Amino acid sequence: MIEERDALYGAASPAALAEETYENYRRYVNPSLARVMKLSGSPVETRAHGCTVWDQNGKTYLDFAGGYGVFTLGHTNARVVEAVRAQLDLIALSGKTMFDPLLGRAAKRLAELTPGDLQISFWCNSGTEAVEGAMKLARAATGRTKILATEGAFHGKTLGALSASGRETFRTPFRPLLDGVAHVPFGDAAALEGKLEDAAAFIVEPVQGEGGVNVPEPGYLRAARDACERAGALLVADEVQTGLGRCGYRFASERDGVVPDVMTLAKGLSGGVIPVGAYIARAAVWERAYGKAPLLHTSTFGGNPIACAAAIAAMNVLEEDGLVENARVRGAQLIAGAREVANAYPAVVRDVRGLGLLVGVELTNEGYGGTIIPEMLHHGVTAAWTLNQQRVIRLEPPLVVTEEEVRVAIAALRAGVAAAYEKLGTL
Ligand SMILES: Cc1ncc(COP(=O)(O)O)c(C=O)c1O
Repeated sequence: MIEERDALYGAASPAALAEETYENYRRYVNPSLARVMKLSGSPVETRAHGCTVWDQNGKTYLDFAGGYGVFTLGHTNARVVEAVRAQLDLIALSGKTMFDPLLGRAAKRLAELTPGDLQISFWCNSGTEAVEGAMKLARAATGRTKILATEGAFHGKTLGALSASGRETFRTPFRPLLDGVAHVPFGDAAALEGKLEDAAAFIVEPVQGEGGVNVPEPGYLRAARDACERAGALLVADEVQTGLGRCGYRFASERDGVVPDVMTLAKGLSGGVIPVGAYIARAAVWERAYGKAPLLHTSTFGGNPIACAAAIAAMNVLEEDGLVENARVRGAQLIAGAREVANAYPAVVRDVRGLGLLVGVELTNEGYGGTIIPEMLHHGVTAAWTLNQQRVIRLEPPLVVTEEEVRVAIAALRAGVAAAYEKLGTL
């Protein structure tokens, strides 16, 4: 059992821990972010389990920001933690000169879970690296350079993935970005016509997460699949956020019955315990790219034994605990509850949308969010903006969330929206 004093990390008091952490952020981590977080009264997280996070004062919060999709199994899932602990006693990081049984097993398990004939996976440490890997694979496999992406997309912040991402604020300071990356409107299959003939790949999120939780009409991904096939371009489904149960499907591509050529994953892949990312590709695609050149794309830490132990355990928990189904049922409850709030405050909430437990609450004006999110925090529920669309608040709890926890979150949302309306009126 954790003692209260352990959760103070050696500080003399909760207030001392908060002050020390803020000062360290201000001086050594990110001064401008520290100021913003302090303004919204952001407490210090000291421990977490399941859907619950504790702050320095022992106050608990239901985690409906969910690490932006990381905590599919909740925090510190016991089976995943145990798998990592056991692995630490054997071998932690791979020396890479010998075969690693866990990487082999993790890759096999991923191939079993992913749709169709997706088979060969490359393992790395984050979502953006998975996207970089997929973009390079597409270029190497097709001999083409152009990548088509969607407006509003979020694929990561390394230079290649950023080139495919769709928010100018994040892109402008880093120009020139990668040559040959173009964007089309998301959700518009007709916009793909004539754009793929010289493209290596079309990269798309089955549901745009950071773009503001944009759910396309059913059939969009299927149409994209067909368009890619006609043009000889690869379809890369970026499921870093939507994959592994988040949207009430094992993978959101399955909503349209689509098997992409390449799928990227991260976030929930290790059950919220260790950083991990991966792309998985059809064997023929991988063979065309790297069949004769096994070292063209590598990573020192990628696919290490502790990450793979976590990923294997996490994939098993996802399946055995029925979490995909729970995401569907609890997601429907969350969307219905949030819609009631929207109906009560149409001046503040324009729309509620989502798939499974990836839910977005679109405000009529982004100015309301600065009251709603802190007020929800005050009521013991975390929520967060989407990165590319500040008008949308995301609700993205762990897939283990219960009916009662969803009810509490909806009540907190209602309190937040009511407070924003009382304070700001119609904006
Ligand atoms: C769809 C998608 N792709 C890629 C990324 C980048 O992942 P990471 O932050 O692990 O680099 C994200 C992160 O939010 C994402 O949502």
